[in-house]
Amino acid sequence: MKSALFSSYTVKGVTLKNRIVMSPMCMYSSHNEDGQVEDWHMTHYVSRAVGQVGLIMVEATAVQPQGRISAQDLGIWSDEHVAGFKELNRQLKAHGSATAIQLAHAGRKATVEGDIYAPSALAFNDKMKTPVAMTQEDIKETVEAFVAGAIRAKEAGFDIIELHGAHGYLINEFLSPLTNKREDAYGGSTENRYRFLREIIEAVKAVWSGPLFVRVSANDYHPEGLNAEDYVTYAAWMKEQGVDLVDVSSGAVVPAPIDVYPGYQVGFAETIKSGAGIDTGAVGLITSGLQAEEILRNGRADLIFVARELLRDPYWPRTAAKELGVEIEAPKQYERGW
Ligand SMILES: Cc1cc2nc3c(=O)[nH]c(=O)nc-3n(C[C@H](O)[C@H](O)[C@H](O)COP(=O)(O)O)c2cc1C
Repeated sequence: MKSALFSSYTVKGVTLKNRIVMSPMCMYSSHNEDGQVEDWHMTHYVSRAVGQVGLIMVEATAVQPQGRISAQDLGIWSDEHVAGFKELNRQLKAHGSATAIQLAHAGRKATVEGDIYAPSALAFNDKMKTPVAMTQEDIKETVEAFVAGAIRAKEAGFDIIELHGAHGYLINEFLSPLTNKREDAYGGSTENRYRFLREIIEAVKAVWSGPLFVRVSANDYHPEGLNAEDYVTYAAWMKEQGVDLVDVSSGAVVPAPIDVYPGYQVGFAETIKSGAGIDTGAVGLITSGLQAEEILRNGRADLIFVARELLRDPYWPRTAAKELGVEIEAPKQYERGW
């Protein structure tokens, strides 16, 4: 059978050998709390490249120290971070994977010492700190931090940059009316709530001409929150700005229950793809080759992001290929056992 999952995908001159993306997953393993790549990160990411994943996306990586989810997050706020990522890129590419990094700021969900920042001074829940509402100067500095992160990502050799606009972190907090109660140009209307992300995309694109993805939470699971239709509007603006793909996740903006089932977010990726005419990535309980093939063949998404299944099975591309009756290349050293 001809397989969509194992067909290549090219974006702005970067070719992925298949449509499988290792979804960003925080490892909280920068044990010295300095944001540096450590041995664990090398082992963790490189083993999935050996497993023939087309695109390895490095976890949420903080553009500012105050934007870390935890003190052990990876960081890219300093030039000193470049060498570790450069070595990681060298090793991943040696195994034929393309590479991406997810640039992130945790906003009100940061658990680091000192003040934390968000569009409005509203805590996520009663266990978390109340953030400081950002001034326009803070906003400007944060946009510049994303730009500096993008410059360092380029220097480190990443093929693709993803902006983390999902899961209730800073960018998402500006987008959602549940977390953005600002009365200035960054709050209120849909257009104003998009302004922070608009400025980040615009500024990043001035220093980065490679592929740019944005991860979104396409449903707030709250009656006054946003849903996939609202994200069609945002995605259309992203497309106008030259974003290449929207990686469609959901939730975590406010504490709210999520009804989780196989492919539970795929419908959102499909709505955004057809509504905004932009490529999408599907993610969320996609665990089998057949499921991935269905999503791609029916034109519901363009890339398949896999997270937890790749923790259980670092060679999941091989598993999926077997299920689909497709032969994929083995690392030369493993041919006798593949
Ligand atoms: C250990 C772990 C860490 C995660 N860290 C991130 C992250 O850094 N950035 C992000 O956008 N999503 C993160 N996620 C969410 C995953 O990328 C993915 O969207 C989610 O797990 C659903 O996909 P799955 O059902 O294939 O696991 C994380 C998930 C897990 C399990």
